[in-house]
Amino acid sequence: MKEMIQKLKSQFETKLKDVNDQKSLEDLRLDFLSKKGQITQLMKELSKVPNEQKKEAGQLINSFKQEVLERYEGKKEQLISLQEKLLIDGAESYDDSMPTGCPCGSYHPITLVQRELEDIFESMGFDVEDYNEIVDDYHCFEALNIPKYHPARDMQDTYYLTTKNQLLKSHTSAAQNAILKKYGKDLKEKGRPIRAVFPGRCFRNEAIDACHENTFFQMEGIMVDKDISVSNLIYFMKTMLSEVFSKEVTVRLRPGFFPFVEPGFELDIQCLICEGEGCSSCKNSGWLELCPCGMIHPNVLKYGGINTEENPYEYTGFAFGLGLTRLAMMKYGVKDIRTFNSGDLSSLSQFVSR
Ligand code: DAH
Repeated sequence: MKEMIQKLKSQFETKLKDVNDQKSLEDLRLDFLSKKGQITQLMKELSKVPNEQKKEAGQLINSFKQEVLERYEGKKEQLISLQEKLLIDGAESYDDSMPTGCPCGSYHPITLVQRELEDIFESMGFDVEDYNEIVDDYHCFEALNIPKYHPARDMQDTYYLTTKNQLLKSHTSAAQNAILKKYGKDLKEKGRPIRAVFPGRCFRNEAIDACHENTFFQMEGIMVDKDISVSNLIYFMKTMLSEVFSKEVTVRLRPGFFPFVEPGFELDIQCLICEGEGCSSCKNSGWLELCPCGMIHPNVLKYGGINTEENPYEYTGFAFGLGLTRLAMMKYGVKDIRTFNSGDLSSLSQFVSR
């Protein structure tokens, strides 16, 4: 390990010497410090080191990483002051790609998780759609097989506007009807399956605590075609979650009730920390509840103009509703949901895309 680090160190120093603008500095950062960079690769080598040497090797890698970070920051500062000097001198070789020294904002952790998921789904052929935050009663409930006065309405209380029939959407499922209508024509005329994800802000009338917020994010997804079955649902969820957590995940389905799917499920993943043995993160069950899902109810497909009364099973599909906020909490180890809407930069500026 020592030799590998030594070799990398001299490689890093040689490259650092050649850095003279923002672009080459960023290339160097990607090469060494990014998710797929050399230091991460080095960490992977750690698994091959005999157990009794692991601790020391780990420390060596950490201090190397620290050194690379410091050298990188130092170079950045140097480029900034050079840029400032150039500006003062009014030199003609002004390079607008150089860092300006202005403090930059950072992406919100939910944005990071959302974008990562969008990329994964796009790579699997899904379209990414946007939808309103203010919707009507029909889209939020009735089109989803939740009739007026049905007890299933009690599951989601939200905020109603004084304008007739308008409310803040309580789940991203509220977009299903519009998406089915938008893509239904291509499905029927060209045989193009409907594959779409639609992330969005949702609202509920909740008593706020560390696990409940009145404003949170979900990402809904649907796939509709001929002969879509639960196997397709499991395949897509498993592939997506293995990408998100960067390792193979084991999933299981339990029955769950949602009026807009039949059958409906709760999808759990095997706890990534204890690998199913049971630990405090999974409340000793070995499983974490992650994503409700199911086969889209025939009524929902009918209201969306996909199937007809005469042929109610011509097309079938699955749907899922991922809690983006919950996923961000799991991924980044955020214990209190209120952090996300706090606007507190000391917490929120710590998240970086990997
Ligand atoms: N909309 C549901 C909620 O927020 C979640 C959900 C359940 C979405 C099952 C789905 C689904 O697409 O199939 O509670």
